[in-house]
Amino acid sequence: MTARAAGRFITLEGGEGAGKSTQIARLRSWLEGQGHAVTATREPGGSPGAEMIRKLLVEGPAERWDGTTEALLHFAARREHLRSTVWPAMARGEWVISDRFADSTMAYQGYGHGLGRAVFEQLYALAVGDFRPDLTILLDLPVETGLARAAARRGTETRYESLPRAFHEQVRAGFREIAAREPDRCVVIDATQSIDAIAAAIEGAVRARLAA
Ligand SMILES: Nc1ncnc2c1ncn2[C@@H]1O[C@H](COP(=O)(O)OP(=O)(O)O)[C@@H](O)[C@H]1O
Ligand SMILES: [Mg+2]
Repeated sequence: MTARAAGRFITLEGGEGAGKSTQIARLRSWLEGQGHAVTATREPGGSPGAEMIRKLLVEGPAERWDGTTEALLHFAARREHLRSTVWPAMARGEWVISDRFADSTMAYQGYGHGLGRAVFEQLYALAVGDFRPDLTILLDLPVETGLARAAARRGTETRYESLPRAFHEQVRAGFREIAAREPDRCVVIDATQSIDAIAAAIEGAVRARLAA
C-alpha cells in the first residue's frame, strides 16, 4: 500500500443540500491559510476513472440499480479514488478533504436500501483495507430543509434526490447512528446554522481533533 503517513484525511458527510460542497471550499481556504497543502476532492468520483463510475450512479432513474449493485459501484469508484488521488496526495504530505466517503455508502445503501452492515464491512475491507478518515464531519439537518436547498441548485445529478422522503429520513438517521458508533472519528454539526457559523464549528473541530 502507498505510504501516506504524512498527510491527513478529512471527510464531510450529510444528506442532499446539507452544505458539504459549500463547506469543503471554506475548509480548503482555511487550511491553506494555516499553511497546509490541500487537495479537495469528492465521492463518488475524485479521479478520472472514478468520475466515469460517478455518472452511472448519479444520473438516470432511481430504480436503475439495486442496493448491492450500487454499493459495488461505489466501492469500485472509492478504491480508484484512493489509489489515484487520496493516497498519493497524503504521501506528499497534503491534507485531503473529501465531499462524501464510505459513510455515505453505509447511510444510503445500508440504512436507505437495507444493505447489511456485514456486507458493507466486507466490501470496505476488500476495497479500502484498514484505512480510515482521521476526522469525519457530519452536517446534520432536517430532510425537508436539505431537499429544498438542493432543489434550488438542481442540475442533472438528481438520481438520489428523486428518492422518496422516507428514504432520506432513513439516510439521516443512519448518518447519526454511524457518528454515534464512532465518536472518536466523527463530529456532528448542526447544519441549519449560517454558513459562517458552520465553517467556524468545522474549524474548531479540526483544531481540537487534528491540531491544525
Ligand atoms: N448554511 C447554509 N444556509 C443556507 N443555505 C446554504 C447553507 N449552506 C449551503 N447553502 C446553500 O444550499 C445549497 C446546497 O448547498 P451545497 O453546499 O451544494 O450542499 P451539498 O453539497 O451538501 O449538497 C446551495 O445553494 C448553497 O448555497
Ligand atoms: Mg455537493
